[in-house]
Amino acid sequence: MPDQHMRLLTRAWGRLGRISRQARERVRGLPLRASERKMGRPVPPGRLIHLVANTEDVAWFLGTGELAARSIRDVLNRNGLAIEDFGAILDFGCGVGRVIRQWADLNGPELHGTDYNPVLIDWCRTQLPFARFHANRLDRPLDLESGRFDFIYCLSVFTHLSEHLQQFWMGELARVLAPGGYLLITTHGDHYLPMLSPEEQSCYRAGEPVVRKAGRQGSNDCAAFHPETYVRQTLARDFEVAEMVPEGALGNPSQDVYLLRKPLLS
Ligand SMILES: C[S@@+](CC[C@H](N)C(=O)[O-])C[C@H]1O[C@@H](n2cnc3c(N)ncnc32)[C@H](O)[C@@H]1O
Repeated sequence: MPDQHMRLLTRAWGRLGRISRQARERVRGLPLRASERKMGRPVPPGRLIHLVANTEDVAWFLGTGELAARSIRDVLNRNGLAIEDFGAILDFGCGVGRVIRQWADLNGPELHGTDYNPVLIDWCRTQLPFARFHANRLDRPLDLESGRFDFIYCLSVFTHLSEHLQQFWMGELARVLAPGGYLLITTHGDHYLPMLSPEEQSCYRAGEPVVRKAGRQGSNDCAAFHPETYVRQTLARDFEVAEMVPEGALGNPSQDVYLLRKPLLS
């Protein structure tokens, strides 16, 4: 068979595999969708889940969302904090609400989510009424006043930004965080080192962040990798590091988690 036919056949076979996997995931998700709807927390359409997670798998979406919420609670508890005690919480880069939906029954804190993708925010706004949602711009300040929040978390967001935007958003999140407030971020750390090219590895080992496809920042096509020294000495230099757990972001597989505290006087 000529090469060209072989290539076409391989491509068609791959496409067929993807379609049948998607169909299986959709059928498997039906009972989960029904039970979440009954509890007043509808599950987003598969194409929106795919936008943030590269899969339409509802079981994955719900299961990892639950794990992420538990690991946020755990890291807070280890530091003498309880999520219920905060006054206002922001989920920065909330996507389609995978984690904020886990706080639907939380008593006390005011809940906010923000994301630069207006399609995701529209869905959250209409379907998750227990929180307030805001659409922000990729590289512009938030339309929220300084010191508004005492806890902000961003799961797998700094993992998709250029170095310049990472620094911009660290500053902006520090602005909307109250003095003494906490910021939790997740990063791709040492776990990913073997997957980097030799040149990327030497950059990473020298304490520099590695960013692939920076031109696609904001989307999952852009991937950033952070050595711990860079986070401590550069990215989070205006914060105190309360705790760093390698691969501790359980609902965001293999990502490191940093709990940072904004100093009272800054
Ligand atoms: C990998 S997804 C994670 C979504 C969510 N945090 C979760 O864990 O399910 C990354 C999210 O960050 C959002 N994002 C990327 N850049 C952003 C920016 N500059 N401002 C707000 N959101 C951003 C994307 O739209 C996307 O929803």
